[in-house]
Amino acid sequence: MHLSPLQSRLVASLAASCLLILLYLILFPPSFALAAELNDAFPAVSDDLDFSIDPAVLNNRDPMYEPEFSAFDRSITGRVPEGVTPLTDNEPLPMNIQPGSTQLFVFVLPSGSPGEEDGRRHELRGEHNASREATAGAGATEQAKGTFEDGQGIGKRQAKQTVYISANTCDRPLPVDPSKTTQDAPQLTLFVSTSAENQAPGPLADQGSQDVVVFNEGAVMYSFNTDGEVYLGVYAPNVSDSFSTKPYNVQVVVSTDGYYFSYDDHDDADLIWVDSDSQGALLITHNLTDSTDPKLEAEIMKTQPYVLFAHNKKDRAINGLKYSYCGLYRHAQIAATKDERATPLVRTGMTKRGPGNLPKQQFFFSGLNSSAEYFGILARDGLDDGDHLATRQAAFKRGTRVFKATSFRTKSNHGNCALVIDLSFCDQIAYSVPSNPNFGNSTKLADFYDSYARSAYANFEKSLAQVPCDAPSSQRYSLVRNCTDCAAAYKDWLCSVAIPRCEDFSNTAPYLQPRAVTQPFPNGERLDAETLASMPNTTAFTASRNPRIDEVIKPGPHKELLPCDHLCYKLVQSCPASLEFGCPLPRGIGFAGNYAKHDPSVGLTCNFPGSAHFPSAGERAVLDWGLMILVLVAGSLTV
Ligand SMILES: *[C@@H]1O[C@H](CO)[C@@H](O)[C@H](O)[C@H]1NC(C)=O
Ligand SMILES: *[C@@H]1O[C@H](CO)[C@@H](O)[C@H](O)[C@H]1NC(C)=O
Ligand SMILES: *[C@@H]1O[C@H](CO)[C@@H](O)[C@H](O)[C@H]1NC(C)=O
Ligand SMILES: *[C@@H]1O[C@H](CO)[C@@H](O)[C@H](O)[C@H]1NC(C)=O
Ligand SMILES: *[C@@H]1O[C@H](CO)[C@@H](O)[C@H](O)[C@H]1NC(C)=O
Ligand SMILES: *[C@@H]1O[C@H](CO)[C@@H](O)[C@H](O)[C@H]1NC(C)=O
Ligand SMILES: *[C@@H]1O[C@H](CO)[C@@H](O)[C@H](O)[C@H]1NC(C)=O
Repeated sequence: MHLSPLQSRLVASLAASCLLILLYLILFPPSFALAAELNDAFPAVSDDLDFSIDPAVLNNRDPMYEPEFSAFDRSITGRVPEGVTPLTDNEPLPMNIQPGSTQLFVFVLPSGSPGEEDGRRHELRGEHNASREATAGAGATEQAKGTFEDGQGIGKRQAKQTVYISANTCDRPLPVDPSKTTQDAPQLTLFVSTSAENQAPGPLADQGSQDVVVFNEGAVMYSFNTDGEVYLGVYAPNVSDSFSTKPYNVQVVVSTDGYYFSYDDHDDADLIWVDSDSQGALLITHNLTDSTDPKLEAEIMKTQPYVLFAHNKKDRAINGLKYSYCGLYRHAQIAATKDERATPLVRTGMTKRGPGNLPKQQFFFSGLNSSAEYFGILARDGLDDGDHLATRQAAFKRGTRVFKATSFRTKSNHGNCALVIDLSFCDQIAYSVPSNPNFGNSTKLADFYDSYARSAYANFEKSLAQVPCDAPSSQRYSLVRNCTDCAAAYKDWLCSVAIPRCEDFSNTAPYLQPRAVTQPFPNGERLDAETLASMPNTTAFTASRNPRIDEVIKPGPHKELLPCDHLCYKLVQSCPASLEFGCPLPRGIGFAGNYAKHDPSVGLTCNFPGSAHFPSAGERAVLDWGLMILVLVAGSLTV
């Protein structure tokens, strides 16, 4: 076809227009259409992601960007060979492993989504909107925070990140006959490789290209820096025929923002055994805060940050799993958790009892076996975040944490020592007191002792009222102590003296004072003549500390953990001389059988308010012996 010059010019300009429109459409895509498309397309895209990404976070991002990540991630996962399980950031993966085999995992750094929960990195992401767009075409992704901080590396495909591997053994093969097999099943072993040459780390792989970590009591924690893929092997050793064929069960998780499963094996106990009786025990945590800010304290008192597991030491079900949360959850005899696993044998709550009056969580057991040894294991279940607890336990955000086991034991079945807690007057008292199962329940027992102390205190208050407490300082009895101090010291002393701390008669610790040795036990038994003959025939041995205890409670032979001598010295130091308090000197008349010295190197050798079976928990006053002797000479032996 022949075109006229006019026609050909029209064709040319039409073609040019079409090209222009095309060019325009390419350069400036109509934004309304894209927005609508993206809103619809999003859920689908995120469903498809191999790395689960919080949709809320997705929406914060540049939407154009997302499909590239998922494509990238998919391509990596697509390469995963048969038998290798891909791991997702912060997602625990449960897995059975047959003895004698290795389970392989691979973890790819979540380059597009480091630490969704990490607020700081959110901020960084915001700040770098512009630079991210500029480098988007090059496939650049979010940089690790280290790189951002250094202000370099933008445009590099991947920066070094810390990778935290943690795992918990939930189950392991059990001895077929526990009475014959004294060994427990061996621990699992973790093998880690970051070398593409060693994608199947394990006992048979090249030892030079992998790190080996044996699980400790069913748990492992291992971290390192890397910028590439991480290959893991969890190896279950062969077990002998004396074990069941049950496989190991393990939960493995890799995280980029801290350990998901952690444990704490420092020497310092996190759980403190306060005292026990024949079927119960009282345990407390450390101070949950050092702050005395009333608002913070009130907030902490509303929480119950810990869970607790307890287990009879004779039973081996938790052996080798003591740092594994799921192992304890499945196998511990007693669980104080916040879910249906909780056993009715334990009550938990918050208390401020003890030196410093700071918040602590307490656990009160009942239904234990007498004369038995137990493990108590404190843990965090990761369900609540402990962010407001500005203490060492707050170092993790989610996931579980298991603390070192604390040993405790119950008393004998004589039942003449019983735990009392929550006394209204002697509010610092929480320990075993001389008791008799026939007397009544622990509420009644606590009331008996508490009301006795309260009435003695009322008499003291009358005496203190005679002292000119509110006089100008020149006329007061002391420049450093006032009547408030005196009253507090008296209460501490009185509660420890009026409410004796009871131990089994069979306890042979040298600092304990035998009491009521000539009386019958609650079940009618008496001490044999030989034992009796070995003890002096004095009231310090033949009676309880307080005659009313023998009249009303009739506990029978028991031993008393004597009050600490420093309670008496503090009283003498704090109160006016006119009240005529005095203390016996060690080795002097009236000391033996009435007071004991605090010796943290031996253990709990004497009783004081808030004391526990925790050597360093309670040293309160440091005594100045020079001063004491002056006071003692001045005072009379009335205390
Ligand atoms: C484990 O046991 C299997 C079968 O009994 C055996 O083939 C294998 O060599 C053993 N492995 C080791 C490391 O002993
Ligand atoms: C980055 O993007 C977010 C949401 O897309 C926006 O709220 C923020 O202001 C941007 N920051 C900068 C520095 O541009
Ligand atoms: C709690 O804090 C007080 C005061 O700092 C301290 O004396 C006490 O020993 C602490 N108690 C525990 C159980 O750590
Ligand atoms: C108490 O002892 C019995 C028999 O020895 C045992 O079966 C049980 O598990 C023990 N219970 C606790 C809570 O220790
Ligand atoms: C203890 O016994 C008294 C009656 O003597 C009863 O009212 C109270 O509920 C009992 N307390 C407990 C904890 O069982
Ligand atoms: C007594 O002294 C203490 C400090 O040792 C002080 O905190 C308290 O307010 C004083 N009490 C009275 C009634 O003066
Ligand atoms: C202990 O002393 C009391 C009186 O002081 C006496 O009645 C009793 O027989 C003595 N007991 C023994 C075993 O000597």
